[in-house]
Amino acid sequence: MIKRNSSTPDVKPSSSVNFTAGHLAYAFAVMLTAALFWGVAAARADETDIVLKEGHGRDAVINNCGACHSLDYIQMNSPFLDKAGWEGEVTKMIKSYGAPIDDADAKEIAAYLSANYGK
Ligand code: HEC
Repeated sequence: MIKRNSSTPDVKPSSSVNFTAGHLAYAFAVMLTAALFWGVAAARADETDIVLKEGHGRDAVINNCGACHSLDYIQMNSPFLDKAGWEGEVTKMIKSYGAPIDDADAKEIAAYLSANYGK
């Protein structure tokens, strides 16, 4: 009985220290998660600011070209690419970077990009 009682105080302080450390770690994890969510929300908000010109093929671009990088790549490259340039760009995304875009969509996308974002 006496031995048990004397061992109990030994356990209590260490377990309460553990709880505090765990609690801090938990609080830190919550803060980190909140920060991450905020970052994702901010990135999403940026992406919705990118409005591509109305036109046939725009949906195909939005559905196929935003998976790996921002759609502002299109706007940024518009001063440099003509029809052949955009066709090459779409082919490069498929052949070199593995973009899963079928032939019909690729044609539609290249036509949309050269009509609306060609130099
Ligand atoms: C499978 C992923 C993927 C998809 C889908 C994709 N791209 Fe890319 N794209 C890349 C990579 C990788 C780069 C080069 C690295 C970088 O700059 O981020 C790139 C770069 C670009 C560039 C910058 C110029 C260059 O050649 O580096 C443009 C413009 C571009 N992509 C347009 C498009 C268009 C238009 C589509 C839709 C047809 C598209 N991308 C779809 C992966 C992709």
